[in-house]
Amino acid sequence: LGHTVHWLEEVGSTNDVARRLAEAGAAEGTVVLAGRQRAGRGRLRRWWWSPLGGLWMSVILRPTLPPERLSLLTLAAAAAVAEAVEGQAERPVALKWPNDVLIDNRKVAGILLESVAHPDGAEYVVAGIGVNLDVEGEPVPAELEGRLTWLAREAPRPVSRNDLAEAILERLEARYGQLHQEGAEPVLAAWRARAAWLGEPVRVTLPTGEVVGIALDVAADGALVVEQADGRRRRVLAGDVQRLRP
Ligand code: BTN
Repeated sequence: LGHTVHWLEEVGSTNDVARRLAEAGAAEGTVVLAGRQRAGRGRLRRWWWSPLGGLWMSVILRPTLPPERLSLLTLAAAAAVAEAVEGQAERPVALKWPNDVLIDNRKVAGILLESVAHPDGAEYVVAGIGVNLDVEGEPVPAELEGRLTWLAREAPRPVSRNDLAEAILERLEARYGQLHQEGAEPVLAAWRARAAWLGEPVRVTLPTGEVVGIALDVAADGALVVEQADGRRRRVLAGDVQRLRP
């Protein structure tokens, strides 16, 4: 991954640029990096603050995985980003289901996978990765205050954007290859090793309501398994997890 890198000072969203390149036939591993995004996107149709100084990157993937393993790509990417950030920032990093990367419970990186299937079966995935590296003195938007952090504040020494991008691509290539060659287990194990809040009470906000219970585990298809007070287990495929403080 990363043999071809397109660098752009400013874009709407690197994921959009990568999608256009993928549609035009760009090879697996093609990377788009931008200095700043005007319209960065997050999960669940959210906006993603992307000031100068951050790492805003999208990687084109052309996976050849059975459908149930395809859904683990998001956990594989999360584990890869966590490993790279931890290595570069020398701070312990945790993962919040499915793919928020946290330092001390504040979000330092996020991942947005967008996949496109064609009628002829060819499919590609754009893995969009955003790491809050520095905010270059820009004021943090009020609604994010206290919920995000950045590496310039957390790491004992400056982290270079290039080194971090290289480390992420190296870990992503390793985890992506592992998902193809060894199946689900090693990726699930890597994700669980950093999982925040497993065994703890959580509230999951779904598009259609909410689930409250103990976050038990992540299933083989990447779903979050939550045990409700009545003992019933619910599998959550998309939603927003919050810890319920006692
Ligand atoms: C999330 O946690 O909600 C996911 C955030 C993903 C942000 C990255 S930045 C690079 C890429 N381009 C985008 O527009 N979004 C992703």
